[in-house]
Amino acid sequence: MSVKLLRGRVLSFKSRPQARDDHGSYLFVEDGALLVENGRIAACGAYDEIRLRSPSGIEVIDHRPLILMAGFIDPHIHFPQMQVTASYAANLLEWLNTYTFVEEQKFADADHAARFARLFFDELLRQGTTTAAAYCSVHKGSADAYFAEAARRNLLMVGGKVMMDRNAPDALTDTAQSSYDDTRALIEAWHGKGRNHVAITPRFAITSSPAQLEAAGTLVREHPDLLIQTHLSENNAEIAYTLELYPEAKDYTDVYARYGLLTRKMLLGHAIHLSDREMDAIADAGSVAVHCPTSNLFLGSGLFDLKRIREHGVRTAIATDIGGGSSYSMLRTLDEAYKIQQLRNHRLPPIENFWQATRGNAEALGLVDRIGTLEPGTDADIIALDTSATPAMRIRMETVQTLEEELFVLQTLGDDRSVSQVYVAGEAVRPV
Ligand code: GUN
Ligand code: ZN
Repeated sequence: MSVKLLRGRVLSFKSRPQARDDHGSYLFVEDGALLVENGRIAACGAYDEIRLRSPSGIEVIDHRPLILMAGFIDPHIHFPQMQVTASYAANLLEWLNTYTFVEEQKFADADHAARFARLFFDELLRQGTTTAAAYCSVHKGSADAYFAEAARRNLLMVGGKVMMDRNAPDALTDTAQSSYDDTRALIEAWHGKGRNHVAITPRFAITSSPAQLEAAGTLVREHPDLLIQTHLSENNAEIAYTLELYPEAKDYTDVYARYGLLTRKMLLGHAIHLSDREMDAIADAGSVAVHCPTSNLFLGSGLFDLKRIREHGVRTAIATDIGGGSSYSMLRTLDEAYKIQQLRNHRLPPIENFWQATRGNAEALGLVDRIGTLEPGTDADIIALDTSATPAMRIRMETVQTLEEELFVLQTLGDDRSVSQVYVAGEAVRPV
């Protein structure tokens, strides 16, 4: 039996903070500890107490004064876009056609896909991201490479072969039937193998024919427990083109609803330019709007309306959207989310941001019983965060007095340098 005790400043969320001073929404223990047994968290609380309950001679890893938190969750990212990030384009559709659809074709090659699966998880872990929901390329083999590497590392990863059968180069399209067959084969091969979760992944309405969205709807009916991921209302030209392709739909959201895709399992990437009707439909379905702030700024797509979407009762998540996004870091992502809300005159408290990147994103994925918190019984995917990782942070931290101030420094100045250690199912990723 593998057992260890992690000592540090323990922070775990219990519920979504309702205000910046909602101290009941989280647990924070200055001298805290996590008892880790066989890849799970067995106890969480004050060091003195947990030490007494632990076996004598237990290995103690002292991370003080670092903050121990659940690993970050990135619920919208593109595995084949590591070499697309930082590509210069005027807007989404130019960026997709000029760079993305070219680069993704390389994932037809198994060696290329295997190499990038290694690089992808190396980078996520460096950034403290222990779970992601990723779009693979159209090629089934890209998803095989993704899941094989995740299983090898015992990571809890969500992924799906992208379904796309039109409006893209021939080398990057499937058919309604082949996308259905390949997705079924992936579910059979990978869902529940290790910690893997397969997601049904129609890329977006522009690249799926009605027959393909029909096939996606069939998969959803056959596998109601699986997550679904797609893009929605990211860019005005995208919306206009979608409505030309689906003239019978009331609006963009209705395209997905008509094919039975708007369910509680649906992750809707971006969801920026929505009418009240669309927000109500998404809220009624229980689908999730995934905010991708660095991508929305980088591609000039628009400013996510967090306040209005919340008022409509829509569930939310936050993600990088690499390669449209410009950083793999969830800390950089939280900072940009904050700034977008500043521009919208909506004040976003740091505790709400950190809740969203951990427990909130786990709830969005329906995985909060496994990840996103430090609650006993959950998987020991844990990060140790250094709020004084750089000279500028150290100087700023000299004047910090509250947890809120410290988290704000971490989100504003922090990046991968603040991620000191990462535990995947209780095992340290870096040398201890
Ligand atoms: N819409 C359809 N595909 C994509 C993609 O790869 N990235 C982004 N940001 N939007 C998309
Ligand atoms: Zn995306």
